[in-house]
Amino acid sequence: MTLQERIDELQTRVQQMQATNKEEVEALRIKYLSKKGEVSELFNEFKALSKEQKAQFGQAMNRLRQEAETRLADLRKTVENTVQTAQSKEDLTRTPDPIQIGTRHPLSLVREQIIDIFSRIGFTVADGPEIEDDLHVFGLLNFAPEHPARDMQDTFFIEKEEGEQQPTDVLLRTHTSSVQTRVMTEAAERLRSGEQQAIRVLCPGRVYRNEAISARAHCFFHQVEGLYIARNVSFADLRQALLYFAKEMFGENTKIRLRPSYFPFTEPSAEMDISCHICGGKGCGFCKQTGWVEILGCGMVDPNVLDACGIDSKEFSGYAFGMGVERIANLKYRVKDLRLFSENDVRFLNQFVSC
Ligand code: DAH
Repeated sequence: MTLQERIDELQTRVQQMQATNKEEVEALRIKYLSKKGEVSELFNEFKALSKEQKAQFGQAMNRLRQEAETRLADLRKTVENTVQTAQSKEDLTRTPDPIQIGTRHPLSLVREQIIDIFSRIGFTVADGPEIEDDLHVFGLLNFAPEHPARDMQDTFFIEKEEGEQQPTDVLLRTHTSSVQTRVMTEAAERLRSGEQQAIRVLCPGRVYRNEAISARAHCFFHQVEGLYIARNVSFADLRQALLYFAKEMFGENTKIRLRPSYFPFTEPSAEMDISCHICGGKGCGFCKQTGWVEILGCGMVDPNVLDACGIDSKEFSGYAFGMGVERIANLKYRVKDLRLFSENDVRFLNQFVSC
């Protein structure tokens, strides 16, 4: 074979090089372009040629090496792309990675359960602002102007900035009873005209009090309050609704006990205990041997509150109740330290899967 023929033959083979992976590309590089490769060997022979022959074959030799290098580079690129496409293509038969489903917050679980229980007897949810004014949090609820709850100790007042025209009585609500006053004033006209027959709402939400944070107190917590206003609502209606709630929440055998109490916005007022769900009322460490644990405040809406909200207290009466969501969660799950509810430690939160 003449040198030209050998160049041509090698060139044909180089042009036809094929590879399916990186290793094959490397093998081809070794076969043709490494020191002992076929192209390099031919170059060694070329070096020994006469000047004239070098001039004759030089270009063809260079073209051969060039083509071998380009072809190898192309092959390298192709195999890399093939690997990437294979990786990115979804394999629909593959076992999926396990999905980490989060858990619901215990306070959300309890709040939803309270809402669910009362919604079955006709209550709907009402919402209101957390940044409130004195009128809705205290004024309309029959708090005397000098009532200690307004004191700086309990209430976070929002300071007005210098020169600002904003009223001075802006504060963070200390209870969700403020939503009740909003609902009542808003519905008063419809109740008067007969367009609406009753108010039956639940007011869930966050409330704020100026308290030092400890295991038993926090500067914010959650409440669900209830309000029912219609004609001829009696204390017996209140008692029955709360008994139903206690049984649904803590079990069929739960008993309730109403103790006289005082709230400015209800008359008469009561605090409700349930029979201790841990010892069944026999007395244990949890209920301090009394057999009862306190869960909420309640009462008949004070006629002063109805009138202040524009509802005729001679025609309408109603009951109200309010409970702390943390308190119920604490009873249900026996969480002793309130701070756990707001620290968002997943080791704590992961323990609550459902109600
Ligand atoms: N607002 C009271 C509190 O924050 C709880 C309460 C008691 C609400 C009696 C009521 C009620 O609606 O009737 O401590």
